[in-house]
Amino acid sequence: MAVERTLSIIKPDAVANKFIGEIYSRFAANDLRIVAARMVHLNKEQAEKFYAIHKNRPFFAMLIEYMISDPVMVTVLEGEDAIAKYRTLMGATMPEFAAPGSIRYDLARDGRANENAVHGSDASETAAEEIKFFFKSEEIFDLKR
Ligand code: CMP
Repeated sequence: MAVERTLSIIKPDAVANKFIGEIYSRFAANDLRIVAARMVHLNKEQAEKFYAIHKNRPFFAMLIEYMISDPVMVTVLEGEDAIAKYRTLMGATMPEFAAPGSIRYDLARDGRANENAVHGSDASETAAEEIKFFFKSEEIFDLKR
């Protein structure tokens, strides 16, 4: 399996619920190394640009309102098969369908409709684009050990 990088966003509900540490522990437990990280409060324009692919979906306005409601934690994860591994760790998009033990099952099930705690890139092309959206190359580190 190849070493990949993927983008994680710990979303406003999870940041507000003080789940950053819990979620970061799960990255370490699953051999996902943090190579870049920053807290950011997205504005409407940034959130609309990031989620442009969903702009015609009925939930778009609600999604943007949610994503700008509080700061988020953006993190680049690196590891073997990182994209698929992190998606398994997150669980299904809608927390009520997420597998027990996943981040969304454990940390988002009691939230509101689209408040699902975390985002993760869905493929290598989107991972590259999403990482570039938040980080310059010099802000991402090659950790040697
Ligand atoms: P995410 O993985 O960040 O990708 C798009 C987001 O839109 C998703 O997580 C949810 O927060 C939200 N979303 C997706 N589908 C729905 C839906 N059917 N209803 C409400 N929100 C949704």
